[in-house]
Order: sequence, then structure tokens, then C-alpha cells
Amino acid sequence: MAFASSTRSAYKEGPPTVSNPVIVAIDGPSGTGKSSTSKAVAARLGLSYLDTGAQYRAMTWWMLSNGVDVDDSAAVATAAEKPVIISGTDPSGPSITVDGVDASGPIRTQEVTGAVSSVSAVPEVRTRLVELQRSAASGAPAGIVVEGRDIGTTVLPDATLKIFLTASPEARAARRGGELTAAGNTVDLAATQAALVRRDAADSGRKTSPLTKAEDAVEVDTSDLTLDQVIDRIVALIGEKRDAS
Ligand code: DC
Repeated sequence: MAFASSTRSAYKEGPPTVSNPVIVAIDGPSGTGKSSTSKAVAARLGLSYLDTGAQYRAMTWWMLSNGVDVDDSAAVATAAEKPVIISGTDPSGPSITVDGVDASGPIRTQEVTGAVSSVSAVPEVRTRLVELQRSAASGAPAGIVVEGRDIGTTVLPDATLKIFLTASPEARAARRGGELTAAGNTVDLAATQAALVRRDAADSGRKTSPLTKAEDAVEVDTSDLTLDQVIDRIVALIGEKRDAS
């Protein structure tokens, strides 16, 4: 990949510059604090930020809005080229549009959440979105934090630092429940936990780019850590990479 060799010297002498971007891959299942952590690390280090889950959700929302049967993988594959998905990569206000329409609200509905695993298992969908993700990473001036499921294994295998976030199912359900409550929903924690476990099984069991930890990823269990502790840990790991290179 075009940006692979330049990432190895990331952070060698102070903050990243155009010639030494830092690429951080943060993977893991939902409810581990990936988004909050990734945005905060990017903001603290002056990096761009990309939420690849939002892109899979945007693709899913387009399919649902355009009458494509999300369980018909051939139909999804044929339509995968059609939506124009644009992600804004400012960590203080990440945005996503589909065909020019702000999709940040609609992609978080239960309907999209329930359908996204089927759509994201279709290889044509992944090929299309991985291309967008690599292009965002190579175009980020200082570097980027990219969060998802297959960033360290498939999208950016030469990332400067790969993190795999985990947490117990109970901690993850409690976090997800908190988000849903904050958004005005009534929450059944047991059902939330069951839905998370189901979605993980689908994401980990699919043939193309399943959710897996890259061999060289650092695993961070966030169950008993505060958000600030996780952020500090990752920022420190980036610093260690800088010192070692
Ligand atoms: O992170 P999230 O929950 O918003 O992601 C939504 C779905 O997208 C998730 O169920 C799996 C899929 N996804 C994926 O397959 N690959 C990625 N790199 C990111 C997300």
C-alpha cells in the first residue's frame, strides 16, 4: 500500500507531519468503547478519525431506503456500487452523508442495527468500503485513527499501531444500554446483551474479513477501565512506537 512505508517512522521526531503520518487501527466488538476512545485519541494527537462501522450502517440504510432486500446477498452485491458515501474525518464532529443527505441520525436506528451484519457480510460491499477507507487513510495529512472490525487485519495491515479492544458482555451491555437510555429509549439490559452477542457472532463468523484480532495487535480489556484510562494507554502506546522507531 502506498502509505505503508511512511507509517513505520510515524512520530519519530515530535508530532506527525505530512511525511510521517501515524495510522492507528482500533478494532473490537461493539460496546467496548471504540468510538469514544478513537475520537478522543485522534483529537488529542491532532489526527483524523474514521468510523468504518458508520459506513457499513450508511450502506445498510441506503439498501433499506431503496427497497433492496438485505437478506438477498446477490441484490445487495449488485447495488453496492450505487450509494455515494462521504465521511467527514474531523474527530470533534465526524459526519456521514449518503447521496448528499446527512445520514448520521438514520444510521443509528434499530432497523439499521438489525440489518447491518447481513449487508456487511457481502464481499462486494466490503470491497467498495475498504477502498474508501484506504483512500481516507492515505489522504489524512497528519495521520488517522480508524475504528472497525477488520482494520488491523485487512484494511490497514501496515498500521503504526493496532489495538484490539475487548470487554465483558456485561460491561458492554451496560455501556450500550446507557447510550440507548441517553437517546430516550427504554432499555432491557438482558435483551441488549443478547443482541450484542448475536451481532458479534455474525460479525466474527462471516467468511469475508471477520472480526478477529490481528496477530500484532495490542489487546486492551476496557471492562474495568475508565475512558480516560483507555485513552491514556493508547496515547502511551503510540509514544512507545515513536520512541522505538
Ligand atoms: O461499530 P458499529 O456497531 O457501528 O458497526 C456496525 C456493523 O458494521 C457491525 O455489526 C459490523 C460492521 N462492521 C464491519 O463489518 N466492519 C467494520 N470495519 C466495521 C463495522
